[in-house]
Amino acid sequence: MPEIEGYYKNTPGSITFVKDWAASASDWIPMTAEEKAKVKQMNLPRPRCPNIPPVKHVDELLPSLDAVARRPYSGGLWPAWDLKKGEKVLVKMSNWHHPMVIDAVRKILAQYETDFHIEIQDKGPAPQWQGHDEAEYYLDRTKELAEWIDSWEVMDREGKWDKVIQGYGGPILRERKIKIQRMPFIVPEAVVSPCHQLPAEVLVAIDEWVWKRIRACKRVHITDPEGTDLRYTNHDAYWNDTREVFRRDHVEAHYSANVPYGETYLPGHIWGRPPFMIPQEDGEGVVKGTMNHIAPYPRMEMTIKNSVITDIKGGGIFGEKLRLLAQNTAGTQYSGFNAPGIMQWWEASIGTSPKIHRPRENYANGFNCGLYERMRAGVIHIGFGTIISADTERADAKAGKLVGHWHVHLYFPTYVAEDVDGEDVTIIEHGRLKALDSPEVREIAAKYGDPDELLREDWVPAIPGLNMVGDYNEHYARDPYRYTMMELDLCRDYHPLFQKLVSGGPEGGEPESGCCSSR
Ligand SMILES: [Fe+2]
Repeated sequence: MPEIEGYYKNTPGSITFVKDWAASASDWIPMTAEEKAKVKQMNLPRPRCPNIPPVKHVDELLPSLDAVARRPYSGGLWPAWDLKKGEKVLVKMSNWHHPMVIDAVRKILAQYETDFHIEIQDKGPAPQWQGHDEAEYYLDRTKELAEWIDSWEVMDREGKWDKVIQGYGGPILRERKIKIQRMPFIVPEAVVSPCHQLPAEVLVAIDEWVWKRIRACKRVHITDPEGTDLRYTNHDAYWNDTREVFRRDHVEAHYSANVPYGETYLPGHIWGRPPFMIPQEDGEGVVKGTMNHIAPYPRMEMTIKNSVITDIKGGGIFGEKLRLLAQNTAGTQYSGFNAPGIMQWWEASIGTSPKIHRPRENYANGFNCGLYERMRAGVIHIGFGTIISADTERADAKAGKLVGHWHVHLYFPTYVAEDVDGEDVTIIEHGRLKALDSPEVREIAAKYGDPDELLREDWVPAIPGLNMVGDYNEHYARDPYRYTMMELDLCRDYHPLFQKLVSGGPEGGEPESGCCSSR
């Protein structure tokens, strides 16, 4: 099935206008026989998904929101509202949030006796995204995020609100009088997920385990069965003398008004490479994938040299739009980059929550999109373009340059931190974040329940030819959007059948691989 036009119309004269739609839609990069043979040798985790029955009443959402309301404040990606009686809380939601979720948020804010106001933005009908919509979405989003940060600065000065709860991506102001917190609650199915019940202490322990090893290593090697193979040197020049935080001059060049955010990791989103460029940049290799923060797209291959993306092949319409953006900016020198052009690699971020799952109902619709699942433990998102909300990006935008950034998700990556005090440490192996198996994290988890259960991923995507039967090229990579939407429907409506189908065995695989057998 050829890709169809998405939310952004294919308009002649626009930067991302695709001239020959049919030709671009069928331009994708099949996995080679050699790559397939490599995948066969890998022992990838079996598909898994939580069996979450449809939510019928708003009260079913309250236990998760209550847990989040009690979590001590954190500036990270996972919600930690730390609600206090009498505090002035501004909540920004929109008509893309499910009405039942808005209702539940109202209830919990009232229950904690906060002095709150919920602002609902009318964004028009929620779009059903196509993967290639990410090209334009992140041109728009960049402007929106800059406006949010400006508005938080104003609110911090004015002192009208103690806390603002808004959005679920990008930087926030850290260590200010006003506290900015996250609103990842879009659809009821994601609200009732056990991810919100995970104690903050466990999430912090996972983050710290990962961050400690990344800071210490000399080089990084990232691979993934979909074809990524990428290396970079973890230069001393990124770090301060003790390698505890990023070097101050880099932080001030990129986040001068937000140093506490810019000098360390974002909880729930660990920088697998520093989110800025230095002259020594030597990121080199290939990135191959089928998914961004919005929705799936036909398989794409990018070549990276000195952390610059030198070639983009395939990717269907998404790939073509990225090539158009690359051509448009080929002669533009961006602030802080070593070479001209917008297509530069600055992100390889690692999700750290084991319980995140891809919501099945109305997927790739409005805010219920690929952005959410990047938080699952061990999922890496490769990011490229200008550096999100950095001073450099904002200066370039003011100077009239095109700014924005885009993504490739890796679901079964292996991330090796080389030479951590003489030893290579595998941080992620085939999508399994090794922090979840570490004695120190397990010991903390044991304070709250069974560590095996608390630290087991709820969701592992079912990808034909990777971790289930089928041919990767024919059943998935040619049109992963079609497969994914079908898989989600099947998973939602025919759950036990789906589990048996993806397990590949007559008995439905090992009992622990199936959600239905364990719940
Ligand atoms: Fe990110």
